Amino acid sequence: MKRGKVLIAERIDEAGIELLKKEMDVDVCFDICREDLLNRIHEYQGLIIRSDNKINKELLDKAVNLKIVGRAGNGVDNIDIPEATKRGVIIANTPDSNSISACEIAIAHMFAGSRNFTYADEYLKGGNWGREIFMGNELYNKTLGIIGLGRIGALVATRMKAFGMKVIAYDPYILGERYKRYNVEKKETLEELLKEADIITIHTPRTKETIGMIGHEEIDMMKDGVRIVNAARGKLMNEAALYEGLKSGKIKSVGLDVHEQEPRTDSPLYEFKNVTVTPHIGATTVEAQQNVGMTIAQQVINGIKGELVPNAVNLPGITREELREMKPYIELMEKLGKLYYQLNTQPVKYVDISYWGDLVSVDIDILQRSFIKGLLEPVGKEKINYINAMIIAEQNGIGIRQERMTEYNNNYSNLITVKITNNKNEKFTLAGTVSNKKEGKLVEIQGYEVDVKPSRYMLFVQNRDVPGVIGQVGTIVGTENINVATMQVGRKAKGELALMILNVDDEVSKESLEKFKTVENILEANTIIL
Ligand code: NAD
Ligand code: MLT
Repeated sequence: MKRGKVLIAERIDEAGIELLKKEMDVDVCFDICREDLLNRIHEYQGLIIRSDNKINKELLDKAVNLKIVGRAGNGVDNIDIPEATKRGVIIANTPDSNSISACEIAIAHMFAGSRNFTYADEYLKGGNWGREIFMGNELYNKTLGIIGLGRIGALVATRMKAFGMKVIAYDPYILGERYKRYNVEKKETLEELLKEADIITIHTPRTKETIGMIGHEEIDMMKDGVRIVNAARGKLMNEAALYEGLKSGKIKSVGLDVHEQEPRTDSPLYEFKNVTVTPHIGATTVEAQQNVGMTIAQQVINGIKGELVPNAVNLPGITREELREMKPYIELMEKLGKLYYQLNTQPVKYVDISYWGDLVSVDIDILQRSFIKGLLEPVGKEKINYINAMIIAEQNGIGIRQERMTEYNNNYSNLITVKITNNKNEKFTLAGTVSNKKEGKLVEIQGYEVDVKPSRYMLFVQNRDVPGVIGQVGTIVGTENINVATMQVGRKAKGELALMILNVDDEVSKESLEKFKTVENILEANTIIL
């Protein structure tokens, strides 16, 4: 297979670059300018960025070979995800890799603010000695208000509990169970949190809803002497409102790792000694960068090779562990999907998928995507992958229905049955299972019960159920030099049509297929590539 080509457009850790180079051709152009990026993007299957580059329609229109954008970090607000999804471009980030570092910088700003750290440092180094002007507050026994109890918010909660703080949180999108797990008091409204907290820290993504979440009105609701920290994203807090709050003395300190404009080196806020600022360095630690670099490199490799990417943000959320568990089912579904158009030419109208037995709690969204990817790949004019599979199915007018069945079917602990209805209202049925050895098996096709572990190359032969056909197939296989790995014969009832399924080592040529078709009792012979 030809090596993929990756452009690393923003700095990532050397270990990640080395990992990529083992499998891909890599161009490292940290700080590439927009014009160069637009001119060169068509060359690449993979692009790695952080937050400086905008991945929008303008760029995606030119990125004709792009399969994956790896966001080395967490926030994806610099990427137009719907545009990428339409084109089947995977967007993957590294959500867990820098969370601890981001959490620690938020906490550092809390301490810096409550103990006047940066001002005291500047004062002393400036040749002054003084203590009274640096009167601070303990965090102990104070109330910390966390807006957004996701990954980083929860890490902050756990750590600040250890400092003896009471922790309250507002996050309307999580279940009550999560508040209990972190021993955090749930606030039903933002207003409640704002009124009760001595220190407020925000850990939400930047969305239409969260931009400007803390403005003049919200600051008015806060306690006098409140301290505020933002290490999530610029624009979540209105800086003009923070300025006024600081000026009036309502706000005792502000700590910002993120800013309304980035990069930026000046702001009215810098006139205050009780404002601590850092240039968006939440993730700038050796540990975070190593984690981020290695994780994003591996994801980009997976994406270019067409494998599933655990942290793809435009795919249903699936963790690395879940992916390991699901892999045999995903591969099986893709293979089942690939069978239809290699055995049939009529366009598909509906696909009905039923999940039986132990599959009652698995993520069926990823399984239907895998099936559709496999189904449309042999006939797809456009590139199809897990990301755009459902969009392309819709564009092709294919209706998909799925159901989970709690009961066991035919004594299989897990079984996936698929019924395809085509344009002529003909039905095509398939079923597969994953064995205890974690091997995907085809166990039914068009009413024939079989037990086949599908290989890359296969031969399907349909014949009359009369003596001698197996021998004739054996002879042709020998004369055509087709090496057979396994062979299965299935029939519905004695004397009816039978089906032979052979796993073979190489693709069966058209010429060889014609030889099978010359045998009197053979009705159909098909070569299959999975
Ligand atoms: P996350 O997705 O795990 O958690 C975000 C939480 O915010 C979720 O629980 C969500 O329900 C909640 N939320 C969304 N909208 C909300 C709203 N309107 N009100 C209240 N809660 C809301 O994300 P995370 O990994 O914890 O990251 C949090 C933020 O930190 C992101 O903005 C991310 O980009 C940023 N970040 C910054 C740095 C840095 O260098 N400073 C590093 C990593 C992450
Ligand atoms: C992130 O979202 O991961 C951080 O803001 C750090 C970064 O952009 O690299």
